Amino acid sequence: MTDHIIVERSADHPGVQIIRFNRPDKKNAITRAMYVTMTDALTAADADPDIRAIAFLGTEGCFSAGNDLGDFLAAAMGGGMPGEVIGFLHALVRARKPLVSGVDGLAIGIGTTMHLHCDLTIASARSQFRTPFVDLALVPEAASSLIAPRVMGHQRALAMLAAGEPFSGEEAREAGLVWKVLEPQAVESATLAAASKLAAKPPEALRISRDLIRGDREEIIARIDEEARHFAARLQSAEARAAFEAFMRR
Ligand code: COA
Repeated sequence: MTDHIIVERSADHPGVQIIRFNRPDKKNAITRAMYVTMTDALTAADADPDIRAIAFLGTEGCFSAGNDLGDFLAAAMGGGMPGEVIGFLHALVRARKPLVSGVDGLAIGIGTTMHLHCDLTIASARSQFRTPFVDLALVPEAASSLIAPRVMGHQRALAMLAAGEPFSGEEAREAGLVWKVLEPQAVESATLAAASKLAAKPPEALRISRDLIRGDREEIIARIDEEARHFAARLQSAEARAAFEAFMRR
């Protein structure tokens, strides 16, 4: 458990489980403990009939700066891709309840790619979606190499995932990563309202519809694992270690 992730319910939004990043001093960078808490929350939500939708939220001006680079540096020195990351990604793919996300501000690395697994994402125009994987001498994760080209086409997927080009909220909407763009102060309430609407639908019909729309989970899991093998090898590379050390030294 970590208080850097808040898992909560709100009386105003029955049936909605909120999973909120709460590490604003580190731009909501995600540690191994935070992945575990989110994975546990997703697993518990699946088993709880009272939870009918999940809403991911960040803090004002920041969704998440992605994986904690200190953790990546530790992984570069030792093991491989932290198992907690893979566990979270698998739980995202296997989630049986609809996933809604609200982004205001920074959404970097997995802070961007996790929305490819969300069913509705609402963002502010000032949001910045960016995946500097290659700049960090890494490769895309979260099956983004499979899903992003389907959602946004090869060119935009490559611009985002390999060239590391930033996408504004509006550009992300045009690319199909985001459903709606709203004023920053409206993002959270609209995200919770969207989750509430889904939570009020007949759950079994919604579950089947969502499964049909999302497609084959096993294909996505296989790509997550394939990417992770490359990612783990890249993490061990001298160029990745140099990139993490440069960030830590700033
Ligand atoms: N991992 C660990 N710490 C991070 C972090 C990350 N991914 N992102 C930000 N932080 C920390 C910073 O080290 C800093 O900590 P400090 O105050 O103890 O020095 C704090 O969060 C604030 O970040 P800062 O860089 O000062 O804010 P900024 O507004 O100038 O820049 C970012 C914000 C997100 C653009 C910049 O921090 C950044 O590029 N982070 C790395 C993002 C990244 O590469 N993620 C991994 C993708 S795979």
